[in-house]
Amino acid sequence: MRIRPASITDLPSIMAIEEIAFPDFERWTEHAWSDELVRNNPDSSVFVVEAEERAGEWDDSPFAPPVDAVADGMDAMEGAPAVSARSVDAVASFREASTTLDVFRLMTAKGVRRLGLATALVQRGIDWGRSRNAERVLLEVRSTNKAAQALYASVGFVAIHERKNYYGTGVDAIIMELPINDLAVAEVAGLVVPDPEAVSDDE
Ligand SMILES: CC(C)(COP(=O)(O)OP(=O)(O)OC[C@H]1O[C@@H](n2cnc3c(N)ncnc32)[C@H](O)[C@@H]1OP(=O)(O)O)[C@@H](O)C(=O)NCCC(=O)NCCS
Repeated sequence: MRIRPASITDLPSIMAIEEIAFPDFERWTEHAWSDELVRNNPDSSVFVVEAEERAGEWDDSPFAPPVDAVADGMDAMEGAPAVSARSVDAVASFREASTTLDVFRLMTAKGVRRLGLATALVQRGIDWGRSRNAERVLLEVRSTNKAAQALYASVGFVAIHERKNYYGTGVDAIIMELPINDLAVAEVAGLVVPDPEAVSDDE
């Protein structure tokens, strides 16, 4: 599995995954993703799992280039870079601010789920957050999205808050947290962290 920062050339593939991963009302637009990919914001990062060699697997997405265009090296989306196959299998977007890393978006293409791709992307995001001295990771997930909750729980996230009916009647927003630096981990575990200044010399 190869994880790398996303580039604008991944846009058609990302949109193809978006199309099958989320319902209409929750979907990020092509414009939103394009902004995310070109913004060059040092506080945000998008990582992708590069697709294995499986040319043509586009999940029947409208973002897939027509077969003829692929043969010609052209893309179906005007102005988008030419692609010959889905270039990524999974994608995740992260933001870091004030020692908190937020998981903004996470999705895996159908057909390659339950292979650890999302887990690997979350771990990659955590490494990036640690490199920026983030102390904890926060995310929000729908109470109805049991797959995502199971994934986050398997990484170690715990639910810390619920916003009742946030997404409409009966659909709550669940806020989940994962401490990622030693101090935050110890605090959550209820451990006392000795303060070296407080240790007396004659002990
Ligand atoms: C949620 C999602 C990102 C998981 O991606 P994935 O690459 O399949 O996840 P992983 O393979 O890393 O899963 C790791 C673990 O999470 C749990 N998990 C993942 N999907 C699950 C499911 N459908 N049902 C139950 N547990 C699940 C399991 O514990 C799994 O480990 P296992 O396969 O050894 O049992 C994917 O289903 C998806 O794209 N869903 C639509 C978009 C979405 O809901 N994104 C999250 C928004 S908050």
